[in-house]
Amino acid sequence: MSRIAYVNGRYKPIHKASVGIEDRGFQFGDGVYEGVSVYRGQMVDLDPHLDRLDRSLGELSMPAPMGRRALVQIFRTVILKNRVRDGFLYVQVTRGEAPRDHAFPASVRPSLVVTCRRFDFGAIRARAETGVSVLTQPDQRWGRCDIKSIQLLPNCAAKTAARDAGAFEAVLLDREGYITEGSSTNMWIVKDGALITRSTDDNILSGITRASLMGLAQKRQIRIEERRFTPQDAVEAQEMFLTSSTGGVTAITTLDNSPIGTGTVGPVSLALIDAYWAHMAQAPD
Ligand code: PDD
Repeated sequence: MSRIAYVNGRYKPIHKASVGIEDRGFQFGDGVYEGVSVYRGQMVDLDPHLDRLDRSLGELSMPAPMGRRALVQIFRTVILKNRVRDGFLYVQVTRGEAPRDHAFPASVRPSLVVTCRRFDFGAIRARAETGVSVLTQPDQRWGRCDIKSIQLLPNCAAKTAARDAGAFEAVLLDREGYITEGSSTNMWIVKDGALITRSTDDNILSGITRASLMGLAQKRQIRIEERRFTPQDAVEAQEMFLTSSTGGVTAITTLDNSPIGTGTVGPVSLALIDAYWAHMAQAPD
């Protein structure tokens, strides 16, 4: 069965679906996106994802392509048409098609693309519990990393460097040597029983998984400190993990080949992985 994509009002086989070459997403990376996990047929944390999409659009003075109800109806249709029970829904809104000119055009119809593909969450959870390696890379992104923009070249380059070094994810470092976030994940360390993660006021993406995990940790009376930390702090911490919609909570065992703590997955990470999967299973949409 060919995968089905929604593109500007039509559902089409993915290889026949297209947008015009003057789409500003194609020419300038002028667009935003969201990625939502679909677990047991339900979209996980849908409302926070829609809120973040609205915020990203607003920050770039882009109109929403349609109202929320209509948008969610399209999401559900794409999930159903692709017969996805466990997977990942990708939503991209660009400013639309206009003759090439750097300045934002006065009024164009935004372009909306929605796709969905299957995920093997069993394998993802197994990887999360086994732990992954990460590699530090300079953070070469722009100053508005709070916006979930489709301009991901620095993220892609960092992730490629990580992959080529046999690591799962790139950990991005600001000019002062502090960790900002991963190429497509938020970063955390566990020190003396507390969770430490960079503040979202500090030029990183406000991860939906990050926010959900904070709620889960608070319920368990786990202390959270939102502050900067360095790779050295991470290596000296007891545990490290990352969060994202695609991987939930994933333990990290080595950073630049140095073990984190004992180099094995620790109890706090395991408890939070468990809590997050329980949260996914309850996802109301
Ligand atoms: N990435 N930081 C960055 C730079 C990201 O791109 C992402 C998400 C996250 C985690 O956010 P969330 O918990 O809302 O998924 C943090 C998605 C998964 C992607 O690019 O596919």
